[in-house]
Amino acid sequence: MSAELTLVPLTVDLLPPVLELEKVCFSLPWSREAFLPELTDPDCCWLAAMERGTLAGYAGFRSVLDEGYISNVAVSPVLRRQGVGTALIRALLEEGARRRLRFLTLEVRVGNAPARRLYERLGFREAGLRPGYYEKPREDALLMTYFYPEGDTAE
Ligand SMILES: CC(C)(COP(=O)(O)OP(=O)(O)OC[C@H]1O[C@@H](n2cnc3c(N)ncnc32)[C@H](O)[C@@H]1OP(=O)(O)O)[C@@H](O)C(=O)NCCC(=O)NCCS
Repeated sequence: MSAELTLVPLTVDLLPPVLELEKVCFSLPWSREAFLPELTDPDCCWLAAMERGTLAGYAGFRSVLDEGYISNVAVSPVLRRQGVGTALIRALLEEGARRRLRFLTLEVRVGNAPARRLYERLGFREAGLRPGYYEKPREDALLMTYFYPEGDTAE
């Protein structure tokens, strides 16, 4: 992770660049209305990666009891391959441990090799397939899950 990179809670003032990055990264981007309730929901955790005051990326999860579901992960195209995605997912994993989750899971397009590699390197494992889950274009979703070791409860 670059010395200039800091992770902060994602707040409403950061939504404009977040929504821009959503449009760059995803064919069905989340709207402001989709993000807003998540930012103040105690069951959600959203982080922004900032580099010199500019949004470099963001990621978030929602917990349901002791289960964690990662919703979105995105890194600015000009700042990819510099560890931003890794820093974001590591921080979500740490927060999940603090919340004593049993696992953190996500869906990824089967053809999204960069994301699959990133998750795999951080200990996520293939846990299932959802045929035809994605639209624009239609594609299968791979479920990838990180299971916390028993007793892993970072304070
Ligand atoms: C997937 C994504 C979040 C990765 O973010 P990133 O900041 O570039 O990731 P990192 O720099 O932390 O990469 C960590 C590792 O992932 C793998 N990786 C990342 N990008 C890769 C690429 N383009 N090709 C192959 N491997 C890649 C590599 O193993 C990399 O480690 P290395 O650079 O030491 O080889 C980013 O490419 C992105 O925003 N993509 C568009 C949105 C998206 O697909 N989100 C995920 C939805 S499930």
